[in-house]
Amino acid sequence: MNRIRVFVPRDSAALAVGADEVAARIAALAPAEVEIVRNGSRGMLWLEPLVEVETPLGRVAYGPVAPGDVPSLIEAGFLQGDEHPLLVGITDRLPWLKSQERLTFARVGITDPLSLADYEAHGGLAGWRQAQSLPPAAIVQQVLDSGLRGRGGAAFPAGIKWQTVAAAQAPQKYVVCNADEGDSGTYADRMLMEGDPFLLIEGMAIAGLATGATRGYVYVRSEYPHAIATLREAVASARGAGLLGPHFELEVRKAAGSYVCGEETAMLESLEGRRGIVRAKPPLPALQGLFGQPTVINNVLTFAAVPTVLAKGPLAYRDFGMGRSRGTLPFQLAGNVRRGGLVEKAFGVTLRELMFDYGGGTASGRPLKAAQVGGPLGAYLPESQWDLPLDYEAYAAVGAVVGHGGIVMHDDRADMARLARYAMEFCAIESCGKCTPCRIGSTRGVEVVDRIAAADPQLRPQQVKLLRDLCDTMLHGSLCAMGGMTPYPVLSALNHYPEDFGIAAPGRAAA
Ligand SMILES: Cc1cc2nc3c(=O)[nH]c(=O)nc-3n(C[C@H](O)[C@H](O)[C@H](O)COP(=O)(O)O)c2cc1C
Ligand code: SF4
Repeated sequence: MNRIRVFVPRDSAALAVGADEVAARIAALAPAEVEIVRNGSRGMLWLEPLVEVETPLGRVAYGPVAPGDVPSLIEAGFLQGDEHPLLVGITDRLPWLKSQERLTFARVGITDPLSLADYEAHGGLAGWRQAQSLPPAAIVQQVLDSGLRGRGGAAFPAGIKWQTVAAAQAPQKYVVCNADEGDSGTYADRMLMEGDPFLLIEGMAIAGLATGATRGYVYVRSEYPHAIATLREAVASARGAGLLGPHFELEVRKAAGSYVCGEETAMLESLEGRRGIVRAKPPLPALQGLFGQPTVINNVLTFAAVPTVLAKGPLAYRDFGMGRSRGTLPFQLAGNVRRGGLVEKAFGVTLRELMFDYGGGTASGRPLKAAQVGGPLGAYLPESQWDLPLDYEAYAAVGAVVGHGGIVMHDDRADMARLARYAMEFCAIESCGKCTPCRIGSTRGVEVVDRIAAADPQLRPQQVKLLRDLCDTMLHGSLCAMGGMTPYPVLSALNHYPEDFGIAAPGRAAA
């Protein structure tokens, strides 16, 4: 009998629902010819653990598989891809996957994340080789030409940051990857680090080559032990294979467990061993960053896009997207969603397509009321905005953000005033405390939302005005986007769902 390969994900989302137990059960019951590969997740999280079997027709998927399903799967002939109630189909032909534009996630779920040979066999290291054949300035130019903008939130052009670091004169330069991924409903960084860690390493090594930085750090969210372990193992093999070495050393650091440590200057403080408190800018980290030296700071997805830019050419990457938002973004569906998971699409896709065509609407089956896009500091979008193209500028024009591509869905039972209160409370808890509008403003914000709820209807407009004034102060007076963006969820809730605050919508008579 020929070798049969069975894939059982090692992604945290799959482990959380019993993937290890499923793999152990298959190993115990399947014939000796069966080889179990622990892959990354395909991103169809509602089907995890998704078990795939390699057949002459392609990989055949079954899910969600519980350990107790394994005997019946074997009996039904799943090792040949036969019928079973858990049969999902030939993975590559599933519309959910087939219609995506997977550039950054092209290999995730397909390869063994820790096999460098598998990585290379599926196109890995092509970007690194191309970069090695170019002078540093030409690498930077390719990143500029690709139109790649930072995927961590602020969407700053990656090439301009790299150019600044490359031009700086210093005895030591650094490359730092922000993998703190604290936004609600986001998990793309984690899935990438667990499912294709060499891609991130390759992107960071290219950044080193382009800018003259010889040391790198990955600052990984402390709640991600599997990502940390996977990355550390991958770094060790990459060193053995020459991708890393004296030309570029990489260290994986466990983060401090605070949301604000994802803010780049607080992250630098934390990496230097201090409390994560935001630094005033200037100086820009690109000129005086880690240990006072020029530092490239990018998100996981930004670095992970770079090997594709180099391997396929900047114009091929730029072909995806719209306006000034080029390439693809791995969107993450979460909250009250029937089919939660990762959908990588070119910019320009709409929220409605993501939430309904991919997400299948709410898990509760009730009408969808609001979607928060871009993390806890992102705006709530009502139905009238679900057909806007997901594009940085189109979102900014309506007071929203694309951010890191997290989408958290809420059904018609959501109380938007409570969610606004939560935004202020979150800010009060997570604020680094350095500036007054954020430190004090967020606490006053919680109180004002409470007063709106408790107030006599006649007095509510006065309190609402106070809340708007407070938001204005936070928006314009905060040192960083923590306090500066907390008003986004608050004001969007207030503007689009005034009835939840007990006030009439503008233009409607008071109740
Ligand atoms: C409160 C706060 C939290 C942040 N958290 C993250 C994070 O977890 N990951 C991230 O990449 N960027 C985060 N950012 C954005 C970073 O400050 C920075 O813009 C980013 O790491 C730069 O990388 P990019 O240009 O590739 O997006 C955060 C910003 C703020 C204000
Ligand atoms: S806005 Fe908040 S998190 Fe940012 S510096 Fe001020 S106090 Fe710190």
